[in-house]
Amino acid sequence: MIRELIARREGENHGLHQQYLNPFLVRVLSIIGYDVVYVRGEGPWLYDKEGNRYLDFLSGYSVFNLGRNHPKVKAALMEVLELDRPNLVQMDCPLLAGLLAERLVEVTKRAFPGLERVFFTNSGTEAVEGALKFARAATGRPRFLHLEHSFHGLTLGSLSVNGDAYFREGFGELLPATAIPMNDLDTLERELKVGDVACFIVEPIQGKGVYVPDDEFLPGAQELCRRYGALFVLDEVQTGFGRTGRLFCGEHWGLEPDIVTVAKTLSGGYVPVGAIITRPEVHRKVFRNLERAVVHSNTFGMNELAMAAGLAALEVLEKECLVERAAEMGARFMAGLKGLQAKYEMVADVRGKGLMLGIEFGPPSSLKLKAAWKGVEGVKRGLFAQLIVMGLMREHRLLTQVSAHGVNIVKFLPPLVVGEEEIDYALSALDAVLAEAHRFPGGIWGLAKDLVKGALGARA
Ligand SMILES: Cc1ncc(COP(=O)(O)O)c(C=O)c1O
Repeated sequence: MIRELIARREGENHGLHQQYLNPFLVRVLSIIGYDVVYVRGEGPWLYDKEGNRYLDFLSGYSVFNLGRNHPKVKAALMEVLELDRPNLVQMDCPLLAGLLAERLVEVTKRAFPGLERVFFTNSGTEAVEGALKFARAATGRPRFLHLEHSFHGLTLGSLSVNGDAYFREGFGELLPATAIPMNDLDTLERELKVGDVACFIVEPIQGKGVYVPDDEFLPGAQELCRRYGALFVLDEVQTGFGRTGRLFCGEHWGLEPDIVTVAKTLSGGYVPVGAIITRPEVHRKVFRNLERAVVHSNTFGMNELAMAAGLAALEVLEKECLVERAAEMGARFMAGLKGLQAKYEMVADVRGKGLMLGIEFGPPSSLKLKAAWKGVEGVKRGLFAQLIVMGLMREHRLLTQVSAHGVNIVKFLPPLVVGEEEIDYALSALDAVLAEAHRFPGGIWGLAKDLVKGALGARA
């Protein structure tokens, strides 16, 4: 039925979304040349109807660390379907959930000893919502601390700890929360001292902007949290499962969080899944007696497809040594990016760890380029980075993204299965687009017209 339906309606994608989902998103995709109709995905590649292939350095925002449609995860899901399992009985203890929890604790404990209890969710934001509730239950305190530029999801609790006004504005009153500048331990301590903080929640490397903290910051923050009785919550929804060249990003600094949130890649790219992994003493404060056995729950969290996908994804990650591969390929990518930084004046910074990397652009000093830069950046900050993303897509079929709103940072999140060939292809594409960007008139500046028109339209 689905095969026939897809064959009959393929190509109507954008029209349907225009009509029923989000017409403004459809317009944005068309302006930046991302209005492709993809028909297939395999490993790090996407394919359109004409058979063109696209190198996916977006990875569905880090859902596809294993690459797309991994045969082992697919086989696990098909087995579950064939077995007609007793799914979602609810008043029940499903086996696969127990097995995935056992496996998650086993692998998590290698990085973060002491995290021994699991609660399954359906998304990253739901894991964060749960972590915030758990922190309140464990401490009896109301307020949360988070970093400027943070991103933890977009439901109301997660939005309360979001560090970007763009996402928060227009949605009314949120939970009591305070933003701390990255690397500012004095401000963190001042806020913790007030005594009303349930937890400090932090992405070990920030997804929006690929900001990497100084080496002293996170260990110092953890120490301060302990001193003032607040929980230290690490949000590894994006950085977890090998993305940064370690199984968990917090390992880079030897962290020992009280709670870790995960999601995205745990599904192997198929079905929604997430988890809150906590110390037993935190868990005990939430589920503390018979009366409160179901005080926090959900309907779909332990569904058999998600659990099977999680078990298979963890096995693939280990068997294919993808964490080590991310470290190795990340080092190659980073070396190439550093080379581009030395070569091009508008590359202001390159940063990140493993295969979570960013390149930041800044204003040029040569006269001709200055005028071009002002022409786009004067309309809206961050449009230059969007031009680079457009150039990479239009001329090289390489998918990337501008890393946050109003910044000139392009982010790269390749699947961890990429090899030297794909990394080198991406670097040469970036080299070519940057060469064009440093030539004016012409080059990718020709794309600016559409973009500026679009940006002006969006403001109107
Ligand atoms: C660090 C982090 N936390 C939470 C979330 C929210 O996850 P979801 O989109 O699955 O709700 C994201 C999503 O990008 C994320 O990067």
